[in-house]
Amino acid sequence: SIVSKRYRTAYHFQPPKNWMNDPSGPMYYNDIYHEFYQYNPDGSNSPSLSYNIVWGHSVSTDLVNWIGLEPVLVPDTPSDICGCWTGSATILPGNQPAITYTGLINMEKHQVQNIALPKNRSDPYLREWTKAGNNPVIQPVIPGLNSSQFRDPTTGWIGPDGLWRIAVGADLNGSSTALLYKSEDFLNWNSVEHPLYSSNSFDMWECLDFFAVLSGSNGGLDMSSAIPNGAKHVLKMGMDYSDKYMIGVYDLKRDVFVPDTVIDDYRLWLRIDYGNFYASKSFFDSKQGRRIIWAWSNETDASSDDVAKGWAGIHSIPRTIWLDSDGKRLLQWPVEEIESLRRNEINHQGLELKKGDLFEIKGIDTLQADVEIDFELTSIDDAEPFDPSWLLDAPKQCREADASVHGGIGPFGLVILASDNMEEQTVVHFRVYKSQEKYMILMCTDLRRSSLRPGLYTPAYGGFFEFDLEKERKISLRTLIDRSAVESFGGGGRVCIMARVYPVALVNDDGGPHMFAFNNGSATVRVPQLRAWSMRRAQVSV
Ligand code: FRU
Repeated sequence: SIVSKRYRTAYHFQPPKNWMNDPSGPMYYNDIYHEFYQYNPDGSNSPSLSYNIVWGHSVSTDLVNWIGLEPVLVPDTPSDICGCWTGSATILPGNQPAITYTGLINMEKHQVQNIALPKNRSDPYLREWTKAGNNPVIQPVIPGLNSSQFRDPTTGWIGPDGLWRIAVGADLNGSSTALLYKSEDFLNWNSVEHPLYSSNSFDMWECLDFFAVLSGSNGGLDMSSAIPNGAKHVLKMGMDYSDKYMIGVYDLKRDVFVPDTVIDDYRLWLRIDYGNFYASKSFFDSKQGRRIIWAWSNETDASSDDVAKGWAGIHSIPRTIWLDSDGKRLLQWPVEEIESLRRNEINHQGLELKKGDLFEIKGIDTLQADVEIDFELTSIDDAEPFDPSWLLDAPKQCREADASVHGGIGPFGLVILASDNMEEQTVVHFRVYKSQEKYMILMCTDLRRSSLRPGLYTPAYGGFFEFDLEKERKISLRTLIDRSAVESFGGGGRVCIMARVYPVALVNDDGGPHMFAFNNGSATVRVPQLRAWSMRRAQVSV
């Protein structure tokens, strides 16, 4: 249908059709990137309670263009008969890839962990996988473990004793626990008496990810090799519909993860992304020596719309992820390969945006675009005071201090996917606040007016980041617009916000929606540089 075509993303990953959720087991192997995903072969709705979900499979040489292949894991053994749920890939010594995944073994949702290996390693696409004969390799036998809350095994890593380890998320006596398992051969696993980490913050963490990062370097680390001294570790967990993380150290003696700071209230934990971005999974890309992360971004239209579209669920742009030089926060940036889709560059320099200014960005395809804009503050005196209680609920601040509310410094940002009369508009904006010695920036993606269609979920998303405005006067924004996807990176990737939108103006296409840079704060902001491109359609899963 026309609606399906207009909202279908042109360069964000999707399978050819049907429902998709989590990325599962991404990996780079013999010159090929593999993207596996939770997939419903029967239709575009979430399969009822995720029963019978399979591992879909696509491959790529550039992370931009993807070839869709047959599913690699389908429920057909006693250890996964009701569903092949999320897992991870590990490249074992001797260039041997292995998948760890959760199997659903009955309609009561009991969960076990399984292994699969490629049938034929000389097939460049690794089209067929064989389930290990000794599956399930891990059963929920620990006392206090809830067997229906026990899933999503991580990529393996090697400890100083040379043994493999994986973590599995579990609800253990009501606590969120990253259970630790050890193995010599990756096939036979023993549970370690203590967890890698646990917290009484929540019931169970989904889609755990555990990886090493080096402060001050955007290079990635391979978890299958020894981790250099001085590296930090990141534990990422899916909870409360968002992916949160902690930075800390991996104490090799005690075999535990120790966060640098323990924050009791999980609403204050850092997030990989402050928008519609869940079940992210990272992997080490040995081709470019970087760590890449991506995630599932759910539809926010009605499930009847998904049936009409024939598809549901996209993945974020693959992002390079690394640790900021202060060691306090992860930074993310779209992989540079995405830039190969850019064309029709437009470039503006030395713009000045006074209070109330709207500058229309013309000359590109506003439905499929990549925009990079720097906002430079002319003075920081006008910054309003920051209230630390806002950290508990940044979206609330985005709603109350929205783009129409004048501020001291900001709001400024982009108005995108705007209809002729501005009735429909999506706004990505910043505000600058003064907090004792530092400045706090609020970044928002406000979807409340993104569409005139009823029945959509249209929140305002938001997150805060610290900024040293004495040193750096420029706040950068990059926004990737892809029909129903709006993916933004603020402050060089300090806060990322993925969002889904379904404007009507996009459907009643009369020349395409409008795009503006704007400022609604008292202080003038300069735009030393604004570059934007139309984005070509990638070959996604054809
Ligand atoms: C996260 C999740 C995982 C599970 C999978 C099932 O979205 O619930 O925990 O393995 O989806 O599809």
